[in-house]
Amino acid sequence: MSKLLTPVQIAGLSLKNRVVMPPMCMYEVKNKDGKVTDFHLAHYGARAIGQVGLIIVEATAVQPDGRLTDQDLGIWSDDHIPGLKRLVDAVHALGSQIGIQLGHGGRKAQDAKVKLAPSAIAYNEEYGMPEAMMLTDIKTTQQAFVQAAARAKQAGFDMIELHGAHGYLINEFLEPLTNQREDEYGGSLENRYRFVKEMLPDVKEAFGGPVWMRLSLTAYDQTGQQNTIEEYQQIGKWLEEDGIDCIDVSTGGLLDTTPNIPIFAGYQVAYTQKMKEAVSIPVTAVGLIHEPALAEYILQSDQADLIEVGRALIRNSNWVVDAAKMLHDKNFAIYNNSYQRGQLD
Ligand SMILES: Cc1cc2nc3c(=O)[nH]c(=O)nc-3n(C[C@H](O)[C@H](O)[C@H](O)COP(=O)(O)O)c2cc1C
Repeated sequence: MSKLLTPVQIAGLSLKNRVVMPPMCMYEVKNKDGKVTDFHLAHYGARAIGQVGLIIVEATAVQPDGRLTDQDLGIWSDDHIPGLKRLVDAVHALGSQIGIQLGHGGRKAQDAKVKLAPSAIAYNEEYGMPEAMMLTDIKTTQQAFVQAAARAKQAGFDMIELHGAHGYLINEFLEPLTNQREDEYGGSLENRYRFVKEMLPDVKEAFGGPVWMRLSLTAYDQTGQQNTIEEYQQIGKWLEEDGIDCIDVSTGGLLDTTPNIPIFAGYQVAYTQKMKEAVSIPVTAVGLIHEPALAEYILQSDQADLIEVGRALIRNSNWVVDAAKMLHDKNFAIYNNSYQRGQLD
């Protein structure tokens, strides 16, 4: 049996395989109230029927002005809990584990009435100038993450992930390019990590289950100002000490420039490996890992502990079923007999 499709106890979870659907925004909340719709039940339900081990629901905003767009999911109010619970129950009934990514868009919150960020530095002209957060804004936002974690628990999610990647608020605190504060939240790496560090104990207590963190390990900055890989390894060590259960390694998104890098299958795996060298908690790999054989190779060669399959799962909700065939995985269980019959002509 393949490593990819063998059940595993990992990062506080009991998963039927190592395939994770990473958070991917669908911008499907047409009436702009942040609530789960039938689309979300069908979309995530189809991936559960398709045997994805862990589904991480798209970036979900901890505050209304933390949404990337006003068609994002939200978790800033207790009114969001029943819809989220319906989604969790549906995915559980279909046999997958389900988590949720908690996020705040910071200076990239496109539709925010008041755009808050560590410093008043714009992403670009179109997004406009954010306001530098006052100390009270920092405390209120940290509290919003804690309350969101408590709501995620009430909804029954198996894990939560804090969105610390792609140039959104947490990433903006971590990076010197976007954090030029002169108080205790800016300056040294330790200070830039403080926004996360301070809220982690309360987030963990409020959720009471596995808490993951997604990071962008490079901003593809050409000016020599971004955090170095060693600094991200230090952040990884602090996150481990502070009780994070898994680091979800990604890259980019901080700057409004197209990175001048080759894009190839598994192009971010080298970053996952760097994080894996620094921490003993599990790490994920993501980024054009769309071939099952490549996913299996990454796991067997110990470059990552879990594989995230993004766009390939948007294209094909049965990606895992197809992977089982390609990996000749004889023990793999398809959803039910009818789906089994669908494999035969
Ligand atoms: C439509 C779409 C929406 C995305 N939304 C999110 C998101 O909400 N949060 C996040 O951390 N990454 C998001 N991403 C990035 C994916 O999680 C993933 O890291 C990226 O697509 C690379 O993996 P892939 O090559 O397997 O697609 C999004 C990607 C796509 C294509």
